[in-house]
Amino acid sequence: MSVSVIVGSQWGDEGKGKIVDILSGRFDLVVRYQGGANAGHTVEIGDKKFILHLIPSGILRENVLCVIGNGVVIDPKALLDEISLLEGMGISIKGRLFISHNAHLIMPYHKLLDSINESGLSKIGTTGRGIGPCYIDKYARKGVKIVDLLDKKTLGEKIRANIEEKNTLLKKVYNQNELDVDSIIKEYQEFDDAIDQYITDTPLLLDNALRDGKSILLEGAQGALLDVDFGTYPFVTSSSPTSGGACTGSGIPPTKIDSVIGIVKAYTTRVGLGPFPTELLDEEGEKLRKIGAEFGATTGRPRRCGWYDAFLVNYSRMINGIQSAAITKLDVLGEFDKIKVCVAYEIDGKLLKSFPTDEKQLMRAKPVYETLDGWKSDLSNFTDYNQLPSKAKEYLEFISKKSGIEIKMISVGPRRDQTIEL
Ligand code: GDP
Ligand code: IMO
Ligand code: MG
Repeated sequence: MSVSVIVGSQWGDEGKGKIVDILSGRFDLVVRYQGGANAGHTVEIGDKKFILHLIPSGILRENVLCVIGNGVVIDPKALLDEISLLEGMGISIKGRLFISHNAHLIMPYHKLLDSINESGLSKIGTTGRGIGPCYIDKYARKGVKIVDLLDKKTLGEKIRANIEEKNTLLKKVYNQNELDVDSIIKEYQEFDDAIDQYITDTPLLLDNALRDGKSILLEGAQGALLDVDFGTYPFVTSSSPTSGGACTGSGIPPTKIDSVIGIVKAYTTRVGLGPFPTELLDEEGEKLRKIGAEFGATTGRPRRCGWYDAFLVNYSRMINGIQSAAITKLDVLGEFDKIKVCVAYEIDGKLLKSFPTDEKQLMRAKPVYETLDGWKSDLSNFTDYNQLPSKAKEYLEFISKKSGIEIKMISVGPRRDQTIEL
């Protein structure tokens, strides 16, 4: 397939980084299309562990070119830190990384406003990376873009106008100290020297790549249920992680997309606040967190854990158009006697016909479970589907049928070689 989209099918952290790393061996370019350094995509190669926040996970394969698309919001400091960390680990970046001139910049006031919002009543448990406030400015048509870095004078003027407005807000509404305009302008003008070399017209670069017969993998961050339109609003992120966002966030038109691959964790996790019908608040949830090492790759926060939700993944399949799926972390379920799968929701004893997107309804929805036998064995060394115990195969067949997804890949551990292809 020449253009494929990878989407998180639940609430993020499904193991997108690992699967993108594997698939990028078969693609020429990998493109991030939304989100920012709120993402944490982990790739383990041998004894090395990489956590990518802004740079596409394809960067670990030296023949792959990587693009940060216009839909991404970029914290220049986080980007430069990530570049130097990767270079320090022997990964080449120069000549392989291209950043869209239309991507927006995260400014210090975005992070400050994120933390102020989180200290109030509208707290949603963000990553604190300034994501929401940056997208607010983008849509309010006040944002500072990557292309602005190229012209120091315009950059200074734009930052000054923004900070004057934000300072009024900080002082009068939030009773906070004002920000120092000149030091922030200086800091961002200096980023220019380090980042200039990567900035380019990425829609044109991608169009040329397609004309040359190159293949492109679009790497989504977060997950469908965190999508600002289709997720569990207001407990969502401020971008479009679903497959539609891959076009608007990269400049690749819908007519060029060949396939959509969903990354689906074999159970469910969520970080931050918001409804989570299959959440386990007992020792089984604790067991999933412990065996699955479910702690945030960006913030280190413990992830909330629960059973697989086929009703939710079926919704995700629908809005993303998922044609094939990679099931991740199947190995984590190897110590459970019984494994539950949510197959429907009910409210007041009535089964719901479709996934509720209204917050109040979702809070009241009760999962309807079917219980399967566990396989009680270690899957982490298996590389062939036929090696899997029959109970593990039954689990996979069951979740595939109930969620309407065709499973093409099964991950049984964090490393590249712990992967089964069908
Ligand atoms: P992403 O944000 O979707 O890329 O996922 P994260 O990197 O935030 O979280 C996934 C975590 O699970 C990482 O620590 C991975 O190394 C790890 N992981 C990925 N696939 C598997 C798997 O099949 N089994 C186990 N045990 N760990 C996995
Ligand atoms: P990856 O790409 C899991 C969650 C936050 C919070 C909500 C809004 O690694 O799967 P934000 O900082 O985006 O304004 O926070 O979204 N969130 C994620 N949860 N994985 C992620 O990324 C996430 N990025 C944001 O916890 O609930
Ligand atoms: Mg993650």
